[in-house]
Amino acid sequence: MWVLGIDTSCDDTGVGLVKDGQVVVNLIRSQVALHQAYGGVVPELASREHLKAIRPLAERALAEAGLSPAGLDLVAATRGPGLIGALLVGFTFAKGLAFALDRPFLGIHHLEAHIVAAWPEGLDPPFLALVASGGHTHLFEVLDLGRYRLLGATLDDAAGEAFDKVARLLGLGFPGGPEIERLAEEAEEEAPFAVPLRGQKGLDFSFSGLKTRAVQLLEKGYSKPAIARGFQKAAVAHLQEVLLEAVRRTGHRTLLVAGGVAANRALRAGLEGAGLRVYFPPKGLSQDNGAMVALAAYRRFLKGEPPHPLSLDARAYWPL
Ligand code: KG4
Ligand code: ZN
Repeated sequence: MWVLGIDTSCDDTGVGLVKDGQVVVNLIRSQVALHQAYGGVVPELASREHLKAIRPLAERALAEAGLSPAGLDLVAATRGPGLIGALLVGFTFAKGLAFALDRPFLGIHHLEAHIVAAWPEGLDPPFLALVASGGHTHLFEVLDLGRYRLLGATLDDAAGEAFDKVARLLGLGFPGGPEIERLAEEAEEEAPFAVPLRGQKGLDFSFSGLKTRAVQLLEKGYSKPAIARGFQKAAVAHLQEVLLEAVRRTGHRTLLVAGGVAANRALRAGLEGAGLRVYFPPKGLSQDNGAMVALAAYRRFLKGEPPHPLSLDARAYWPL
């Protein structure tokens, strides 16, 4: 069974093809260079770029898989949340394709797609799932596919957003995560950062204080590598502390870590050393992509989800 998945929720055009639950092709067309000049994603530009990219990318994905459009069994796209103009491009394209081919269509939640990307086949819930990206920092208890309990979320910036902002402060490129990581590994000293929200009652996250602290430390004359290292250490420690507290409260010792920040090596090493069963997405599936959308659609379809009507709307705001 072939599933086509599309994600255009933000600034990357993603088209993926999944055959019987295995990723065959996963193409991502990044818009990073376009938005870099503006210091952030410009929604209108993102929509236009998706519009230019989507059809050629879908054609290339099919060609790489040696598949004709008629070979598709299911078409899926991210329904939300995200930038509405951007979402609409991929969502409408996918619905049009499903209509033209007379195939079932499924609209997928972006965060569910991130979770499924890290969810190995055969792993039974319940477990914990952290989605940490440039737009989200959400901790869920996963009870089943489609049944999620939100345990905590960021009170201000998303984890990836904090990496991006501190990277910008230090004059590094975008996205900031890999740049901070590289600079932190070169550092010979470490600037002092306090771990956010220690001793809190909830399971929330906060990253904006780390950014403010980075500004202060830069003014005090700390070196850029030292700030990168201190910031990363505190950000990773914060994520770990909240996750370990969630483990303590729920009793679940299995954890999925998804989203762009899941690529962070310090985070991986810390969590793997904490005596938990931790799963990360395979390479290429942590950032925004189309294959994760196809995977989520495939799992839903197997569970008996009926096709969604083509009148379904996209949603900028849509809690999981
Ligand atoms: O999931 P993603 O590709 O897009 C969103 O949905 O936002 O995540 C991108 C985010 C960026 O903020 C980026 O800086 C961060 O993930 N990121 C990292 C790393 N690689 C990407 N953060 C920390 N360490 C990394 N190695
Ligand atoms: Zn995402």
